[in-house]
Amino acid sequence: MNFQLTEEQLAVQAAAREFAQSELWAGVIERDEHQKFPAEQVKKMGELGFMGMMVSPEYGGGGMDTVSYVLAMEEISKVDASCSVIMSVNNSLVCWGLEKYGTEEQKQKYLTKLATGEIIGAFALSEPEAGSDATSQSTTAEDKGDYYLLNGTKNWITNGSTASVYLVIAQTDPAKKHRGINALIVERDSPGFVVGPKENKLGIRGSDTHSLMFTDVKVPKENRIGEDGFGFKFAMQVLAGGRIGIAAQALGIASGAYELSVKYSKERKAFGVPISQHQAIQFKLADMATNIDAARLLCLQAAHDKDAHQDYAKSGAMAKLFASKVAMDTAVEAVQVHGGYGFVKEFHVERMMRDAKITQIYEGTSEIQKIVISREILK
Ligand code: CAA
Repeated sequence: MNFQLTEEQLAVQAAAREFAQSELWAGVIERDEHQKFPAEQVKKMGELGFMGMMVSPEYGGGGMDTVSYVLAMEEISKVDASCSVIMSVNNSLVCWGLEKYGTEEQKQKYLTKLATGEIIGAFALSEPEAGSDATSQSTTAEDKGDYYLLNGTKNWITNGSTASVYLVIAQTDPAKKHRGINALIVERDSPGFVVGPKENKLGIRGSDTHSLMFTDVKVPKENRIGEDGFGFKFAMQVLAGGRIGIAAQALGIASGAYELSVKYSKERKAFGVPISQHQAIQFKLADMATNIDAARLLCLQAAHDKDAHQDYAKSGAMAKLFASKVAMDTAVEAVQVHGGYGFVKEFHVERMMRDAKITQIYEGTSEIQKIVISREILK
């Protein structure tokens, strides 16, 4: 593995950093407090090419590699993890899934708009009774000849009310278990499709999380992704890549909290000197920096595996498992470094601590990552 980033990767990293620092800092506390969706910021992210980074230019994307995506995700997550989850779902789950497995018609109709950020997408797998146990889908997609009749409820869907296009996973043939599941492209204005109230969350409060209700929604057959029964594998494939994006998000939260801690420790004085001169603080900073570098290496390893067309299920799960723990640990320690100031909103680290927690839950809990990793080791 080459540890040297290319000119292009460095340019993407610099552009993401510049965008995050100049456009996301202002207002991030207010968006968090009032659960305000970052509509303007997401529009700008689309204009700058961050919403369809890995999509081929033929479909309006940036044609970039996964390493560049990880670098951009880290920079944006350093400042606003709500923006980065919107970006991650659109890039990794929706755009990547459509480009890899969609038909030419589906790509022309949906991907071209998703990749430019003209519209955003959502991925609907989780249900009230099916989070980790993703094969137990209660949502049904009954085969009615030239269309599917979709019924059921999805929970905790990122971009739930702001998406225009939803990739919905549903059971068509329960006798076939996970091999009877389909992935369907559902449009926001489909009759019978209702979006539930916004979830009032601990973290990533600027992002838009809802339940979705489908009652006799007719989905044309041409909106199925892949062959009949491919839906579960589709979900597993997109999630394997999605975990690299969330790992990078976790890495960004950790590095954001760390950078603020370094800065604060040089400014804040206690016992007559900046607190950075106290070993109690130095040890915390050393642990943070070491863990963050290790998490970054795992993220880049997974991205490199994906770019090299090697299996990345294990490296992606490892990156997510480790980086999400580093995000949580670093953010907690960042609050500690900031003392009382860390407990108030103006200093940002309390938000980062709340945002960090979700990285250990969505796109598979830490326990799910361990299942994926151990299965790969033992197979
Ligand atoms: N690629 C392709 N196929 C895969 C695969 C992968 N990475 N992983 C599994 N599969 C296939 C298996 O080969 C198997 O197929 P066959 O039987 O035809 O061979 C099939 O999928 C079922 O696999 P398992 O028997 O391993 O399934 P399982 O029920 O034991 O569970 C699991 C596997 C890993 C636990 C899975 O259920 C899982 O990943 N659960 C977590 C789901 C998750 O991440 N949810 C997140 C929701 S989305 C989200 O959070 C988005 C957001 O808001 C940000």
